Amino acid sequence: MASGKGNKKKQEDSDKYSVLLPTYNERENLPLIVWLLVKYFGESGYNYEIIVIDDGSPDGTLQIAEQLQKIYGHDKIVLRPRPKKLGLGTAYIHGIKHATGNFIIIMDADLSHHPKFIPQFIEKQKEGGYDLISGTRYRGDGGVYGWDLRRKLISRGANFITQVLLRPGASDLTGSFRLYKKNVLESLVERCVSKGYVFQMEMIVRARQLGYTIGEVPISFVDRVYGESKLGGNEIVSFLKGLLTLFATT
Ligand code: GDD
Ligand code: MN
Repeated sequence: MASGKGNKKKQEDSDKYSVLLPTYNERENLPLIVWLLVKYFGESGYNYEIIVIDDGSPDGTLQIAEQLQKIYGHDKIVLRPRPKKLGLGTAYIHGIKHATGNFIIIMDADLSHHPKFIPQFIEKQKEGGYDLISGTRYRGDGGVYGWDLRRKLISRGANFITQVLLRPGASDLTGSFRLYKKNVLESLVERCVSKGYVFQMEMIVRARQLGYTIGEVPISFVDRVYGESKLGGNEIVSFLKGLLTLFATT
């Protein structure tokens, strides 16, 4: 394990970070994302655990996760599988129940979200005592790489409509690379009605409503190389429905 300056500095730090990794058919990506997480947490010296929530992936993601658990240890890799694909929103809820950290990091497992940004999230949180830190593709050095025009338009469009309708005061609403205080995330999840992709947006809109403080860190989102996105036409329709429900109820 790396023993840099960071390690010593943070030894007395009692904070613990639970990383939630929802997976559905991510067998190619999981070993690398876990390796990178272990590397960056090791270098920065923060205490952590990685919770893999696999939804019965037919490609054998869970078996890969079991091997990773043998390599890195049961205290670092925690497996909380579910029998079938039940959606991203409920995967997070399931993961939170098993998290032992006082902070929770949610991110995609397909390498679109690079673990190198996590130490920046943590430092930003400590700096301002924020309730949540949101990775943003739409500020500063943030950006999106590898998406076709269709995906870019959908993401920009969803952000734009939501900004106009709900004025949440955060630049990236649909992104899902975030750090939360655990109790804040729990209180948000309790109030969130949406499932699926709109969930991310509802979380940040509700956070603002409840007066939680939000810090932002620019991130680059790189489209997956292995496997495919689970965002289809159905998700877009349910996103719009969810947005309208939010508009009507907040
Ligand atoms: N357990 C579980 N169950 N995991 C899932 C499910 C599910 O039903 N559906 C997707 N995942 C996992 C994937 O394996 C991946 O780790 C992560 O959730 C994101 O899924 P992708 O399919 O890669 O999403 P995307 O790249 O199309 O969408 C990304 O960008 C959107 C818009 O910015 C995600 O970050 C979305 O959350 C985001 O809204
Ligand atoms: Mn993806």
